[in-house]
Amino acid sequence: MENRYVIILAAGKGTRMKSKLYKVLHPVAGKPMVEHIIDQVEKTNPSEVVTIVGHGAEAIKSHLGERSQYALQEEQLGTGHAVLQANSLLADKKGTTLVITGDTPLLTAETLKNLFDYHQGKNASATILTAHAADPTGYGRIIRDHIGIVEKIVEQKDATEQEARVQEINTGTFCFDNEALFNALSKINTNNAQGEYYLTDIIEILKKEGKAIAAYQMSDFEEAMGINDRVALALANKIMYQRLNKMHMMNGVTFVDPDTTYIDEGAVIGSDTVIEAGVHIKGKTVIGEDCFIGAHSQIIDSVIEDNVKITQSVVEESIVRKNADVGPFAHLRPKAEIGEHVHVGNFVEVKNATIAEHTKVGHLTYVGDADLGKDINVGCGVVFVNYDGKNKHRTTVGDHAFIGSSTSLIAPVDIAANSVIAAGSTITNDVSEYDLAIARARQENKAGYAKKLPYLNN
Ligand code: UD1
Ligand code: CA
Repeated sequence: MENRYVIILAAGKGTRMKSKLYKVLHPVAGKPMVEHIIDQVEKTNPSEVVTIVGHGAEAIKSHLGERSQYALQEEQLGTGHAVLQANSLLADKKGTTLVITGDTPLLTAETLKNLFDYHQGKNASATILTAHAADPTGYGRIIRDHIGIVEKIVEQKDATEQEARVQEINTGTFCFDNEALFNALSKINTNNAQGEYYLTDIIEILKKEGKAIAAYQMSDFEEAMGINDRVALALANKIMYQRLNKMHMMNGVTFVDPDTTYIDEGAVIGSDTVIEAGVHIKGKTVIGEDCFIGAHSQIIDSVIEDNVKITQSVVEESIVRKNADVGPFAHLRPKAEIGEHVHVGNFVEVKNATIAEHTKVGHLTYVGDADLGKDINVGCGVVFVNYDGKNKHRTTVGDHAFIGSSTSLIAPVDIAANSVIAAGSTITNDVSEYDLAIARARQENKAGYAKKLPYLNN
């Protein structure tokens, strides 16, 4: 195969986004747009990828790392000027160069491969990836002559009324003969409505030099969508989430309402798992088979093993092992490790703690900075008091211990296996195996005293 090069345009600020974040770093289904682009581009096996950076150069480089080379465009003088910055890296090479804008995150590798093939088949100097738009507003228009041969691309702001009516648009992605590309780029100027060096102008230049220009029209306009503002961003997210949900459904995952279920790109879900409405699954989450993820749960960067039930809960950077159940209304904060068959019930918060198999933490409890063994029963309203105002301390609880309701375990403290803590205790000292610890004020009943309180009891 001949050499393939890719140039990704990502130097613009994205003024229309009205954002502090650089446009191509805005996430679509949890992943920055420009990362979607490079993911797809890599599947076409290019020998070199060059990303043009300017605004947010360092941030973009830290996202893409060594997956790309970089050329700096110090001033954003237009898309043609941007491509020209790759001159010293690519100009003398032979092969085909794909130029793609960093703001078209829905384009797939399949379309890019089709474009490469079409370009090669036509033996063209340039092939434009085009699409038919119901509403072409904002896009460059493909101008063809009376027999349908492409003549040029006209930007919206430079278009005559007649040209503006054309519905075939420039997607911003092209294949070029590499040498022809850099040759033509040296000839573009800024005589246009925006005073910019347009990449699109080189079509007319190549044409006038007698070079062959081709246009490959893709069938799905949505896939070509360029994200210039937040309205388009919201639409791109919607389309990407639908695409991902469909993929999960084809893999055997049940969705109660895919229209309101948001699963980030990169998440993995096993078959026969059921996901209810309003669920968000974010980051690098892995969910096993036969799980149930109840309505309005959020799961972020976590591992959920097989057959786990999570009901309306928030799970962050945690591990939930097989056959456990969590919620409703539980919050697993970073570094919670929930063992097999563990029950974490309603209004329970767990942070930086391990809970071994078959232990039950049923109600209204905070488990912070602790290691719990197996088969423990933690009563209602237990607080692992982990913070003295300055430092965090750990608590350990041994296997089969019983922690009565409304107990405070003041860390650091060790509760040995098979011990019992009486309800309402405030535990500050270690408890040995098989001991019963009671640490609460003794009750005193004053006989008949209630009668002396006539305002309460008469
Ligand atoms: C561009 C095309 C238009 C096409 C549309 C498709 C031109 C002149 N216009 O318009 O025909 O229909 O994309 O989405 O090419 N960039 C740089 N440096 C610059 C300017 C832009 O790197 O100096 C980058 C941006 O970061 C962005 C991409 O190029 O990723 C496209 O720029 P943008 O301003 O969005 O172009 P459009 O107006 O959408
Ligand atoms: Ca754009």
